Parts: sequence; structure tokens; C-alpha cells
Amino acid sequence: MERINRQVVLANRPHGPLDATTTEIRDVAVAPLEEGQALVAVRYLSIDATIRTWMDDAPGYLPPIGIGEMIRSGGAGEVIESRSDRYAVGDLVSGLTGWQEYVVADEGFGAMSPVPSGVDLPTAMNVLGSTGITAYIGLNDIGHISEGDVVVISAAAGATGMTAGQLAKAKGAALVVGIAGGPEKCALLVNEYGYDAAIDYKNESVTKRLKELCPSGVDLYFDNVGGEILNAVLANLAMNARIVLCGAVSGYNATEFPLGPSNYFALIIQRASMQGFLVLDHLAKWPEIQAELAAMIAAGTLKSREYIVEGIDHAVDGLSDLLTGKNIGKVLVKVS
Ligand SMILES: NC(=O)c1ccc[n+]([C@@H]2O[C@H](COP(=O)([O-])OP(=O)(O)OC[C@H]3O[C@@H](n4cnc5c(N)ncnc54)[C@H](OP(=O)(O)O)[C@@H]3O)[C@@H](O)[C@H]2O)c1
Repeated sequence: MERINRQVVLANRPHGPLDATTTEIRDVAVAPLEEGQALVAVRYLSIDATIRTWMDDAPGYLPPIGIGEMIRSGGAGEVIESRSDRYAVGDLVSGLTGWQEYVVADEGFGAMSPVPSGVDLPTAMNVLGSTGITAYIGLNDIGHISEGDVVVISAAAGATGMTAGQLAKAKGAALVVGIAGGPEKCALLVNEYGYDAAIDYKNESVTKRLKELCPSGVDLYFDNVGGEILNAVLANLAMNARIVLCGAVSGYNATEFPLGPSNYFALIIQRASMQGFLVLDHLAKWPEIQAELAAMIAAGTLKSREYIVEGIDHAVDGLSDLLTGKNIGKVLVKVS
């Protein structure tokens, strides 16, 4: 019986927010496996903010997705056929799946990795996946977090931010402040995810609240959003502060490049540094970080929360929800 693979392709480049015309479904037949390949039924897609940046025809760290090409994405699934010694039927694997129902895993560059065992698949894709590892690397390798730091994290109730806040507390930060949109998210950060305080940037002045909460300034800012919030944090830096540029999601749906932060001169006055990074540059460290994070999950010191959208037809809605802040925690699409 011929297997049909549903793929989601880029139909039109979005100009601003995503809509129903951004993607379309394409059905293709699954080709017979060659020696060294395995067929994976995709169970979950990892919906990441960066996918939006690949939809623009603009320079990036990976080429733009072409019109008519499948949406590039991470994902995880189960091996259902195998002609490879590397994969056994029933194995759970993760990697670059794209937005589709089936992916062919091979043994070369596109090889998929075993999903860490001992946790459910959504948790593995969240805290033990790219966003959890991003939080870890951003805080430790780039931000050089140390005990007693005053740490501020934006998009704090999203996938990366929620893990980053918990890790910052576990590393002995003196104060961890989250910035998020709306009272529900802010209450959750403090009551469930170990943040000491939260700023609701949609209803409060970030500048004023930062001065109140961090009177001696911010030692480490984990920036997921860029834009006005970055500018507000720049105005309240401690001496030798570190700003970790993880992402700039506030601008991903923008139709024009925003102006740079006008408060950048504070970097000079405070002898501060601002450094960007990509989690993909640290692949060799992923297994050891996953082991450390898995131990924290097992010990009950690291919580995972997912926002699950049902059905591959709604993958673009999942991305749209992330970009407009409807999500709390990691956005995943449940494929089957
Ligand atoms: N450098 C790397 O290697 C790397 C790897 C992974 C992720 N990232 C970056 O990390 C950031 C978070 O990504 P994620 O996948 O974990 O997404 P996420 O945080 O789960 O979702 C994005 C969040 O951004 C917030 N947001 C949207 N528009 C905003 C705006 N105008 N101002 C302030 N906040 C806004 C929304 O929450 P609110 O309701 O609070 O607005 C939303 O929940 C992104 O910038 C992404 O590019 C970087």
C-alpha cells in the first residue's frame, strides 16, 4: 500500500503576521526506503520562533525557505520501518523533520538522534530539546551566570524563558525577574516557575518596575525579545553586566527593521557586554547538558510545560500563537 505524506509548504511570504495564505498542504507519496535509511512517523513538531525568520527572504544563519518548499522544523517521531543498523522499529528519534507526517532518516548528515529516555516526548522536546539547551548555554556559556547575580529574562513564560528562569534560580541567582505579557503569565512565573518577581510589559512600565525591583542594576539580561524591552533593560545595568542576545521575537513579524537601542551607550558606562549566540554552534555539548537537565527533572527541580496544538494542518496556527504570545511554555504540534 502506498503511503501518502502530508507536508506543509510555504505558499506566500508573510508580510507581517501569518495568515491562512502563508502555508498550504501538499500530499506526496513516500518513496521506498534505500539501504541505510529508516522511515519515521513524526509525532510532534517543535514550533520555534526562528521558523518565522526563515519565512522572510532575508539573510540569516540558514537560507530562507523557498516558496513551495516544506517548512523547515525540528521534530520527533517513531521509527516504523528500517533498513539501517542505526535505527530499530519502535525507536523514538528527533532531528530536522520539517512540517510533514513522515521523514526518512539516514545515517549521514541528516541522521536523527535518539530521544533521551526517562521523560515523555513533549518534555524531551522542550526542556531537553533545543529551547531548554538554549536556556542553559545562554545563561552559563554566554552569560557566565554566577551566584548572587540579579538576572532578568524576557519572554519569560515562553519555552526558552521558562527554563532559563528556573535554571537561573538553581544556579544561585540572588533575584530572577521575568518579563512577560499579561497578569496570568506573570502570576504563573512567580507561583509555579520560581521567579522572584515578574513584570507585565503589556500593563506596566518596564523601566519603572526594573528600577524598583533591581535598585543596584541588572547583572545578567537574557534577551529573547529585543526592541523596547532591551532598551529599557540597557537603562538599568549593573557594572560589568552581561546581555545575552538569544533572540529578538518582538521584531519577527515586523515589516521594517527596528532602530537600534538608543540606550546602548550604557554598555560603555557600565563596562558591560552584549553577545549573541546560536545553540546550533554547541551541538557537541548537547548530550552532557541533556543529562544534567534530565537529572534536574528527575529530582523535581525543573518543570516543563507545553502548549500543544493538534494536527499538522494547524502547524502555522501554532507558530502564529507563539509570535502573538498566546502560548505558555513550549509550542508543539501533535501530528498523530
Ligand atoms: N539563539 C538561539 O540559538 C535560539 C534558540 C532558540 C530560541 N531562540 C530565541 O528565543 C526566543 C524565544 O523563542 P521560543 O521558541 O522559546 O518562543 P517562546 O518564548 O515560547 O514564544 C515567544 C514568546 O515571545 C513573546 N513575545 C512575542 N512578541 C513579543 C513582543 N513584541 N514583546 C515581548 N515579548 C513578545 C510572547 O510572550 P508574551 O505573552 O510574554 O509576549 C511569546 O510567548 C526567540 O527570540 C527565539 O528566536 C534563540
